[in-house]
Amino acid sequence: MALRLAPHEKAAGPEFSMKKNIVLLPGDGIGPEVTRAAAAVLRECAHEFSHQFDMHEFPIGGAAIDATGMPLPTETLDACRKADAVFLGAVGGAKWDALPVGKRPESGLLELRKGMGLYVNVRPIKVLEPLRGISPLKPERLGDLDIEIVRELAGGMYFGERGSATEKGEERAWDTESYSTREIERIATFAFSRAESRSRRLCSVDKANVLTSSQLWRRTVTAMSTVYRYVKLEHMYVDNAAMQLTLKPTQFDVILSSNIFGDILSDAAAALVGSIGLVPSASFGSGAPLFEPIHGSAPQLVGKDAANPIGSILSATMMLRDAFGLSLEAEWVEQSLLRVLGGGYRTPDIAEPGQRAIGGSVFTELLREEMLRSLEHAERYGWGV
Ligand code: NAD
Ligand code: IPM
Ligand code: MN
Repeated sequence: MALRLAPHEKAAGPEFSMKKNIVLLPGDGIGPEVTRAAAAVLRECAHEFSHQFDMHEFPIGGAAIDATGMPLPTETLDACRKADAVFLGAVGGAKWDALPVGKRPESGLLELRKGMGLYVNVRPIKVLEPLRGISPLKPERLGDLDIEIVRELAGGMYFGERGSATEKGEERAWDTESYSTREIERIATFAFSRAESRSRRLCSVDKANVLTSSQLWRRTVTAMSTVYRYVKLEHMYVDNAAMQLTLKPTQFDVILSSNIFGDILSDAAAALVGSIGLVPSASFGSGAPLFEPIHGSAPQLVGKDAANPIGSILSATMMLRDAFGLSLEAEWVEQSLLRVLGGGYRTPDIAEPGQRAIGGSVFTELLREEMLRSLEHAERYGWGV
């Protein structure tokens, strides 16, 4: 069924159909399952809205190590650089855990981020209305939680000098946290603009009471605040930020952080909405953007169809909206998703006591059915009825 546009969409016309080249990097563990879910949703959007999404899979992580000996084969990076957008599932697993840093599946993901010039990672943490009850927070603390963590993605100790040595028979190893003014300015510019377009509150997280790199971070962000006069800037030490996220998360709007602090705070924040399987992300930089759920390869879930595909599906809607400007399509998927959840359908991680859980692939199929149902409704009565 091809989409017939409702009267007020007709103005947009068929010239709005798009041709996009999307690279899929399924990776390891539950990565391929959740990537399948995102691809199914994108395929449905392309079909119903007459877009052409050419999707091609390439190996990364452990799968790429097994196939080529490298966690990020040159062919994969080249394809990503030429793509309009990249989608990644997850990488890593016990099979490759003994490998040293640099040769591990996770190193492939870091090389990819670096190689694509991605220095911004946005992680929205938003309560999904039908899932309010699964938050570990009391409703009055959870409120209408809707925050964005803007994580620096191309610097800090992930990419600083590292090494190891044996001194007098004892091993020592080190990683270095290091940021330049320019690196801080470019991520802070993104975070300030993001805050400007939301509730105009920005909390910059650091450890400036201990770390020199954090002192430069705080000085640089403070200096920039004169340009963004309408954004209320606050600074918070990372240990306090971790606590405040649990105590009173609604005090935050946009959180700006370094690479390592953003990694840790985003998993902690994901718990507030009930499952890390729900949280998507988008990464931007000098080239094509990349979209990925924030969770890992969850090896213990593999083969059980127990992975929650929602973080992956919402990463696909971020791709539609933020990479392609297709808000109507993104809205269509997200509203359908809320209706499926509203109908009580849950994967095991988000099932409430007494609720029967269904597999991730069954959930995705139900979502597709709901998308088609709502489209028929829209064709008949128009959107938003
Ligand atoms: P993880 O995110 O894989 O799992 C943490 C917990 O969350 C587990 O209990 C898991 O069952 C659960 N979980 C994760 N995703 C889920 C989903 N979609 N649905 C339901 N439950 C979900 O993190 P971990 O256990 O620390 O790491 C496992 C592997 O993944 C490691 O090799 C790690 O390096 C890798 N990792 C990869 C990425 C990535 O590719 N972006 C991110 C984090 C971890
Ligand atoms: C994430 C992951 C990655 C990170 C790992 C797998 C390299 O934990 O995307 O949150 O630390 O950035
Ligand atoms: Mn992480």
